[in-house]
Amino acid sequence: MKRKRLGVVTDGAFNAGLTVRLDPGCSTEDLRIGDFVIVEGVHNRYFSMIADLQLRATDPTLLANPPRDASPFITQALSGINTYATVEVRPRLMLEKGDEFTFVDELSPPQPVRTIPMHFAELCQADAMDFRSVFGEEGGRNFALGTPLTMDIPICVKLDRLVERSNGIFGQTGTGKSFLARIILSGIIRSEAAVNLIFDMHSEYAFDKQSEDGIWVKGLRQIFGSKVLVYSLDEKAAARQNVDVTLQIGLNQIEAEDVMLLADELDLRPTTAATAGLLNDVYREDWLQELLGMSPDGVQAFCQASGAHPEATTALQRKLRAIKRRGYVAEQAHFNIIDDMVAALDKGKHIILQFGRYSSALDYMLVANVVTRRIRRLYQRKVERYEETKEPGDAPRPLMITIEEAHKFLNPTVARQTIFGQIAREMRKYNVTLMVIDQRPSGIDPEVMSQLGTRVSGKLTEERDIDAVLTGVADRSTLRGALASLDTREQVLLMGHAVPMPIQVRTRKYDEVFYGDMGAGEVRSAVQDMAELFGE
Ligand SMILES: Nc1ncnc2c1ncn2[C@@H]1O[C@H](COP(=O)(O)OP(=O)(O)O)[C@@H](O)[C@H]1O
Ligand SMILES: [Mg+2]
Repeated sequence: MKRKRLGVVTDGAFNAGLTVRLDPGCSTEDLRIGDFVIVEGVHNRYFSMIADLQLRATDPTLLANPPRDASPFITQALSGINTYATVEVRPRLMLEKGDEFTFVDELSPPQPVRTIPMHFAELCQADAMDFRSVFGEEGGRNFALGTPLTMDIPICVKLDRLVERSNGIFGQTGTGKSFLARIILSGIIRSEAAVNLIFDMHSEYAFDKQSEDGIWVKGLRQIFGSKVLVYSLDEKAAARQNVDVTLQIGLNQIEAEDVMLLADELDLRPTTAATAGLLNDVYREDWLQELLGMSPDGVQAFCQASGAHPEATTALQRKLRAIKRRGYVAEQAHFNIIDDMVAALDKGKHIILQFGRYSSALDYMLVANVVTRRIRRLYQRKVERYEETKEPGDAPRPLMITIEEAHKFLNPTVARQTIFGQIAREMRKYNVTLMVIDQRPSGIDPEVMSQLGTRVSGKLTEERDIDAVLTGVADRSTLRGALASLDTREQVLLMGHAVPMPIQVRTRKYDEVFYGDMGAGEVRSAVQDMAELFGE
């Protein structure tokens, strides 16, 4: 079938894009900023995005003196002769044209744009085949995230590429970030592109959760069963729900870095780093326990011996008592539980850590940081061992760590110190990447933002948030328009490493059909169960 023609190229420059005169009979109202369109050159087909729409007149006097009563008849009579519209189009990819009848999968993949078409090349609406030749067929590690805004065909991301670098999901509250995260995580679990560790601050990833529409939706544990392990900090929630492990954090596991991250939450003074440093020099990993146990005389003695400031030390002691009072904090805890997490990840399990009633920013940041630092250390060791032995069995599985409210860990003040900032910056060196979810991307360190390989963003209204999401992305002005024109819910702009070109997508529904596609409730064979029980 022939694509619908929209107009012809009349002007253009490689750097600035193409100007297309819209055919009479084609209305600007049928097109949207961000639409995926095709420009047919003689030798190449250009996959492009609409960047702007403009109204023009051939005769300026008409504009100075417009018809007073523009009936459809008059408007139509003027259209195409005295008035017309143009479209600004940005070619994003190009494909050398073969025979019209070659099948898609025989074509080479589209290439970066290296040239522009000549005058009067046709602008056409993209058809299903065009979407397919750019975004690929669904299946394997090619995962359908949704559909184009105006068509009902899958738009896929390459999950291998998605987990290869850190990535981000953005959008103001209610745009569907948590739903989309569950969809992407499901795709990764289903295809085994990576193992996941999810810090689930609001307990919304593991079990049933009521949506804003009042429908109960399934959690990942319910879709994937024992492939997903649930850890909880909250012993009460653990007793109520089907939780696998209750996690405790020991004072001995908390490092000065963790405390610095809580500077705002605990209202710490600028002297904290120095004091904690001195404590650490003397007591090593017992520094916090020792500090909290010090009598006033003990503080005096410590300060005399180490040169710490007595008042600062007492203040720090008072403020850090808040940590000890948290129900999940013990005097001493072994790293065994966290090390077991890594062992489970090694076996291909995915882990959700629920915070339950401990869902304050303090709990979230403290625990996520302690756990992630340990896991990252173990991963580093694994990678180093693998580099020595080069045994395929030693190769660690890629790990993706999901954090919501990411700006708390990655804002410019703390991103240099936290383990999360380090992971984002070192890229995939140790096979660990992040999926950061945030409604306020402007709060995240620009250096971290520029490292994100794939970005998915729902609607954002604040200028600085839009700027932040587009940090380090080419052709920001077009994408800015594409971002602004999204609906407030269930529509996203998808761009970066995991897709060949940026595209607006209507998010896939997270519902019974989806659970089915992910294999929920699949009858497990006895062989599978036996393998799970007795395999390795
Ligand atoms: N993919 C989806 N499928 C079904 N409902 C969705 C989807 N995305 C969003 N919604 C609806 O929008 C609401 C808000 O989504 P949510 O992911 O909680 O937003 P956010 O995390 O961005 O604040 C949900 O409660 C649900 O009703
Ligand atoms: Mg959310």
